[in-house]
Amino acid sequence: MSRILTALQPSGILHIGNYFGAIEPMVGLQTTGNENLLFVVDYHAITVTQDPARLRQNILFAAATYLAAGIDPKQTLLFQQSRVSEHTELAWILNCMVRMGELERMTQFKDKAKGKGESVSVGLFDYPVLMAADILLYDTDVVPVGHDQKQHVELARDIAERFNKQFGKTFIVPKPEIRKQGARIAALDEPEKKMSKSAASEKNYISIMDDEKTVLKKIKAAVTDSQGTVRFNESRPGITNLITIMSLVTGKTVKEIENSYAGRGYGDFKIDLAAQTTAFLSPLQEKIRGYLDHPDALLKILDDGASRAKTIASKKMEEVREKIGVKL
Ligand code: ADP
Ligand code: TRP
Repeated sequence: MSRILTALQPSGILHIGNYFGAIEPMVGLQTTGNENLLFVVDYHAITVTQDPARLRQNILFAAATYLAAGIDPKQTLLFQQSRVSEHTELAWILNCMVRMGELERMTQFKDKAKGKGESVSVGLFDYPVLMAADILLYDTDVVPVGHDQKQHVELARDIAERFNKQFGKTFIVPKPEIRKQGARIAALDEPEKKMSKSAASEKNYISIMDDEKTVLKKIKAAVTDSQGTVRFNESRPGITNLITIMSLVTGKTVKEIENSYAGRGYGDFKIDLAAQTTAFLSPLQEKIRGYLDHPDALLKILDDGASRAKTIASKKMEEVREKIGVKL
C-alpha cells in the first residue's frame, strides 16, 4: 500500500476546468486501495496578499467542494494545512539545508516574481520548501500534481536525499505523478487557450456555482466556427471543446454525441449542452451549499482530519528533532 498525498490552494470559486482537471481525478484515486491525504494549503495561499474574510470563505468553500465532489473523509485524510503546525516547523529545518540557488531556479517563482523586483515576499521564494515539508512529513510515496508542480516535487526529492545522507535514513524519497492532461477544458470565448479564472472576461469560464440562466447565456455566447456541424476535430477548437464538456457532464462518448447531432446545428446542441451542464452542476451545488449552510459538519470533518494528520506529523517531527540533535 502506498501513501498518496496532494494539496490544492484555496483560490475561490472553481470553474469546470478545475473540477474535471484536478478534483475529479483525486476522487478517482480513492478506489485504488492506497492511503490518501488531501489538504487545503492555506499557508501557501498567503505567499501573496489575501483578504482575511475572503480567505476564510475560500478555505471552507474548497473543503465543501471536495466533499461534495465525492471525497470521502473515511477514505481520504482531509485537512487544513495551517492546523498542523509541524508543516511550518519542518519547513524551517529544511530551509537551513536548501540553497538560495536551488530556489532561484524554480520556474514558478521566476514567473510570479517577474517585474516585482525586490518587493516580492520571502514566503513566495520559500514556497517550494514548505511544499517539500508538506510531502516529507507524511512519508509520502506518490505526489499527483499538474505538470507545473513537477519541479517542486523534484526539489522535495533532492531535499529528502540530502537529509538522509547527512543525518541517516529519515524521509521517503517521493515520486511525482504527473496527471495526464485528459480533461483539459478550453476557454469558451477563446478556445485556443485554457479555461482560467484569471481571465479578463466571465464569458471565459463556467463556474461550478453558475445558475441555469448564466450557464445558458455563456454557452450560447461560446465561440465556434462557421461550419455548423457538431464534429470533434482539433482544427475546430470551439465546437471540439463544447463536445468535450458534453462528454464530461453526460458520460457519453464523443462518437455517441456526434451521432445524436448528425444533421443538426449548433443552436440545438448548445441548448442541450447548457441543460446537461446544469443537470450535472445542480446536485453538486446543492451539496456544496449544504456544507456551507451548516458548517458544523464541515468543521467537524476538518477537526478530525487535523487531529489524525497531527498524530502522524508529530511523530515524524520527534524523529527529525532527534536526528538533527536538538532533542535532549
Ligand atoms: P486557473 O488557471 O483557473 O487559475 P489553476 O492554475 O489554479 O487554475 O489550477 C488549479 C488546478 O486546476 C490545476 O491542477 C490545473 O491543472 C487544473 N486546471 C486549471 N485549468 C484547467 C483547465 N482549463 N482544464 C483542466 N484542468 C485545469
Ligand atoms: N503547490 C501546489 C499547487 O499550487 C499545491 C501544494 C502545496 C502541493 N503543497 C503540496 C501539491 C504538496 C502536492 C503536494 O498546485
